[in-house]
Amino acid sequence: MSATETAPTDTLKIETIAVLGAGTMGHGIAQVAALAGYPVVMRDLERDALRRGVQSIERNIRKGIERGKLTEEDFDLAMQRLRGTTHLEETLGADLFIEAAPEVLELKQEILRSVEALRPGRAFIFATNTSSLSITEIARASQHPERVIGMHFFNPVHIMRLLEIVLGRETSEGTLETAREVGRRMKKEPITVRDVPGFASSRLGVAFGLEAMRMVEQGVASARDIDTAMELGYNHPMGPLRLTDLVGLDVRLRIAEYLHQTLGTENFRPPEILRRMVEEGKLGKKSGEGFYHWNKDESI
Ligand SMILES: NC(=O)c1ccc[n+]([C@@H]2O[C@H](COP(=O)([O-])OP(=O)(O)OC[C@H]3O[C@@H](n4cnc5c(N)ncnc54)[C@H](O)[C@@H]3O)[C@@H](O)[C@H]2O)c1
Repeated sequence: MSATETAPTDTLKIETIAVLGAGTMGHGIAQVAALAGYPVVMRDLERDALRRGVQSIERNIRKGIERGKLTEEDFDLAMQRLRGTTHLEETLGADLFIEAAPEVLELKQEILRSVEALRPGRAFIFATNTSSLSITEIARASQHPERVIGMHFFNPVHIMRLLEIVLGRETSEGTLETAREVGRRMKKEPITVRDVPGFASSRLGVAFGLEAMRMVEQGVASARDIDTAMELGYNHPMGPLRLTDLVGLDVRLRIAEYLHQTLGTENFRPPEILRRMVEEGKLGKKSGEGFYHWNKDESI
């Protein structure tokens, strides 16, 4: 074993983080990493995405200052620690790569291979922010699947406290411990989940959403009243139907179909009302209508 290699069970000291992708999730992850004190290199293929990502980070931290949660010094230090690049070579010094590129298995595998090709023989952890793909599948592209793990952050990253850590079949204890430690330093609450379709969060969230839709379909109550039941009865910050409108009904339908196929349980069969609404172009907030009318905030 060379001096730079470590045994698969070892934890790894993370000094620098590379975030691959500067979109909705990537820039948020880069922000919480920089605020946690890590030097961060954020890489995207597109210069525009990098520019927008950095602007969003600046805007978010400024809002944090207005709310009294962050200081000017936090802003200055975080921005000093953050570097954006379109060149993968500039991520060379990182010990932890967090991939936040589009949700395409082959793309994630290709990114993993190119990171490994860049750093032969040097230990690093490759974390993917995938919300649905199998970590074990992604790790098939790796020479070191024990160092591949899921770090599933939630949107918006700087606000949501949950970090769902997903173990691939070969992920080592050391990799898990390192990911948990980094997550805690980013002020997230890590949970550990096996690599099953929907992990823990999507499986539960989608189950709630689909049941709520079936209740609208059966005329049990209006969408607003069903949401209110969960908001006031169970202290959910937002009811499952309003949340479905924000996520997008088309996105929810795809996830439900995937969970229905892979888990094989009937409670994930997409309800007719969901299929019909997607066919009619009622996709939620982005189309102006879903379970609510978004310009008037009325429920169906
Ligand atoms: N959006 C969400 O609410 C959310 C929540 C949790 C997890 N996720 C997951 O996070 C990942 C990213 O989602 P997003 O919403 O941020 O996507 P996004 O489309 O906003 O951003 C993806 C970025 O990756 C860049 N990119 C493409 N190929 C790249 C490469 N080879 N190297 C570096 N960058 C590359 C794109 O230019 C784009 O800027 C997906 O796997 C998604 O499933 C998304």
